[in-house]
Amino acid sequence: MSESTVATLLPAITKQLYIETVGCQMNVLDSEMVVAALRKSGYGITKNAADADAILFNTCSVREHAEEKAYNNLFHLKQLKLANPEKIIGVMGCMAQKDQKAIFDRVPFVDLVVGPGQLHRIPELIANAQAGEKQQLAVSLSRRDGTVEDIKRSHETFDPLRDPEMRPTPFQAYLRIQIGCDKFCTYCIVPMTRGPEQGRAPDQIIAEAKVLADQGCKEIVLLGQTVNSYRYVQGDKTTRLSDLLRSLHTIDGIERIKFVTNYPKDMTRELLETVRDLPKCSPYLHVPAQSGSDNVLKRMKRGYTTADYYAMMDRINEIIPNAAVSSDFIVGFCGETEEEFQMTVDLVRRCRFKNSFIFQYSVRPGTKGAEIYEDDIPEEVKHRRNQELLEVQNQICLEENMKFLGKTVPILVEGPSKWSVRKEQTGDLRQMTGRTHCDRIVVWEGNVRQAGQILPVHIDDVFAFTMFGTVETKEIVPDLVQMRL
Ligand code: SAH
Ligand code: SF4
Ligand code: F3S
Repeated sequence: MSESTVATLLPAITKQLYIETVGCQMNVLDSEMVVAALRKSGYGITKNAADADAILFNTCSVREHAEEKAYNNLFHLKQLKLANPEKIIGVMGCMAQKDQKAIFDRVPFVDLVVGPGQLHRIPELIANAQAGEKQQLAVSLSRRDGTVEDIKRSHETFDPLRDPEMRPTPFQAYLRIQIGCDKFCTYCIVPMTRGPEQGRAPDQIIAEAKVLADQGCKEIVLLGQTVNSYRYVQGDKTTRLSDLLRSLHTIDGIERIKFVTNYPKDMTRELLETVRDLPKCSPYLHVPAQSGSDNVLKRMKRGYTTADYYAMMDRINEIIPNAAVSSDFIVGFCGETEEEFQMTVDLVRRCRFKNSFIFQYSVRPGTKGAEIYEDDIPEEVKHRRNQELLEVQNQICLEENMKFLGKTVPILVEGPSKWSVRKEQTGDLRQMTGRTHCDRIVVWEGNVRQAGQILPVHIDDVFAFTMFGTVETKEIVPDLVQMRL
């Protein structure tokens, strides 16, 4: 279905929705889905909470800080709610699943609390709240509250519609292939908030990718908490991520395929060879290591050793030379000694990641780690380790980017850069931004018309996080090709 067909099926806008999203790509995608569903009930999007008929916060529980911020933002809505009690205020996402009714106790003027496995009910719950039924709660079964099948059913994947306006850009879209997680790393709340690991049916995924391609999408990013563990069993047929990649690769219009987040143990030779052999698959792999110490990895219950991780890096470098690998790390996990932390620094030095996301350990009630270990690393030590690791990583980012100096690389143009937006640049000539196939960010002085194209950009200068370039050839304007001049 084309974008215009979707638009013509929508009712006139009679109400306004304000939605704020934090957390991972899963949440970004969930918000897109909820917006698409609410558009069908006559909602438009406003950027101003004061103008909204419904306000939704899509929340994250992965660290305490994110939750505290969400509660603070909710408290700030009190005046708006007092001034207009008809305004519906909803909390969705992982914090909704984790805190459930406690949200109503802490913030009594919240009207709905909806976990990530129940998002399909949001339009109905908003309507109920508008009809006067307050404190609507829709959450999935907790991991101890039923059979695995019942729990799985209560965590429904919600992928009904696509909404190009809610995407990072119209040319890029997330596509969920897996929900939940069964790895139970001891620090992590995700298996509790997102439920058991479940792969989506391949035919649904492929159908959705075709819709996205029809809507003009050039890059799809497949999402799963451990995306490379994806498997779907139907009768005696098992579909793995590599099978999916081969099917998605045949879809016209899709030019780039990425998948996040990977689990080190499941980064098989077969998957890597598939990525190598399919030119649309980006040579970019996000595979969090979390720590460089075997003792810490064991306490985290990550299920691999540093030797396994190094062997995986060797496999990647052998099969896909120049692949960009990125990672996540937690510093200051329970009992982490200075020596154990230095092993993480060593791992970062040896692996030379494209980039790393570094987090200070935040104890999460409800996890095994919170139950059995003491959160004994002082905040200032966590902070210092964070800074030290970041400095090592930043230097590597710069050195790796230097390799691009003077080269010309194909860039998928995303649109005006953040700088351009901040500077409120108008007109056609703007600073534009895009990414290399290996996920590096490039900016240049360009034209808004370039958005959505894949253009050759010459890299003139580099910093740790951004490369600066020049578009090398004039882009091909598709209309021009069809003109009979
Ligand atoms: N499924 C992904 C990551 C999900 S959470 C994976 O397994 O890699 C994203 C990142 O947040 C994790 O990789 C981890 O580095 C970090 N994280 C998770 N729980 C955390 C906690 N309790 N404190 C600090 N960081 C945490
Ligand atoms: Fe959390 Fe571990 Fe699952 Fe990732 S693999 S979501 S870190 S439990
Ligand atoms: Fe946060 Fe939930 Fe994602 S806890 S990181 S929004 S899966």
